[in-house]
Amino acid sequence: MSDIDALEKELLAQIGAAESQSELEQVRVDALGKKGRVSALMKTLGGMSAEERKVQGPLLNGLKDRVNEAVHTRKAALEEEELNRRLVTERIDVTLPVLAQQTGRIHPISQTIDELCAIFADLGFSVAEGPDIETDEMNFSALNIPPEHPARQMHDTFYLEAKEDGSRDVLRTHTSPVQIRTMLTEEPPHRVIAPGRVYRCDSDQTHTPMFHQVEGLVIDRETHMGHLKWVLEEFCKAFFELDSISMRFRPSHFPFTEPSMEVDIRCRRDGGQIVLGEGDDWLEILGCGMVHPKVLQYVGLDPDVFQGFAFGVGIDRMAMLKYGIPDLRAFFAADLRWLKHYGFPSLDIPSLAGGLSR
Ligand code: PHE
Repeated sequence: MSDIDALEKELLAQIGAAESQSELEQVRVDALGKKGRVSALMKTLGGMSAEERKVQGPLLNGLKDRVNEAVHTRKAALEEEELNRRLVTERIDVTLPVLAQQTGRIHPISQTIDELCAIFADLGFSVAEGPDIETDEMNFSALNIPPEHPARQMHDTFYLEAKEDGSRDVLRTHTSPVQIRTMLTEEPPHRVIAPGRVYRCDSDQTHTPMFHQVEGLVIDRETHMGHLKWVLEEFCKAFFELDSISMRFRPSHFPFTEPSMEVDIRCRRDGGQIVLGEGDDWLEILGCGMVHPKVLQYVGLDPDVFQGFAFGVGIDRMAMLKYGIPDLRAFFAADLRWLKHYGFPSLDIPSLAGGLSR
């Protein structure tokens, strides 16, 4: 047996016998390290004649490769053994109490959505969902926004690539398509909210390309503006945790509601702070209206039998107002210090009975 073969046999035996990562590393260094035995042999190639090198070169390289590979294989095996050992011996008691400082924080947007759901659940609403990638039809046409309608420009839509039939999906620009999906898949009466992400190609101090809305939809045989007003007032009082709130309904326009309104709440601007419920200023918080007969017809409901209302609220805006968060963009900067400051304890689940935010 040549020296090279003998050395290989010896090294492979050592590798196979290594019982720990550190033992294996020692074997590797002794063989392949700068001053290792294999490395020393490799160095002798320089002093050989061309003929000799042609023979010894491939032999030595083969040795090096096989030793290297044996080290890797053994390493993987040792790692697996180690993991199995830990899985068998380590135990976590999931019933132990959590240390408050070590828990993660709930993002203010998640907190706000949980609060919205708690409030509307109490009013008899359930939660509906729709996809972030919508068809043009659901996001626009079904909502009485035909292709040439100027509202399409106002929405700064993100379009996806054209499909085979030439149509293009969009990142939904509002949560209103969930109205359509709900009415198409369920029988009236409807009483749903749909919180979620929406997207518009707009980015500056007060706009981010992704933000959040909550849609509300109520459809029944006798639903009128009085119901709309009451629901929104109850919602605002509960959300801002105030006994009374003064709201202003301004005429506006949305293609999918008639009449349409925008709603402001009374506030006072105090330095950089906004104080709600008092003062002479007004702050716009949502858009709403009675569902347009054309939208009802689209989903196959007879507008003479069923009517209802819808509203759309900017969740991020509501969170900023309630929790005094000055900068919208910070919501999405994933800064842990910010989250620690503005976030919520993960074990305090908002409920009307137990308190929404305190
Ligand atoms: N979808 C509208 C928007 O994004 C808001 C809205 C919803 C208005 C429902 C009326 C009814 O601006």
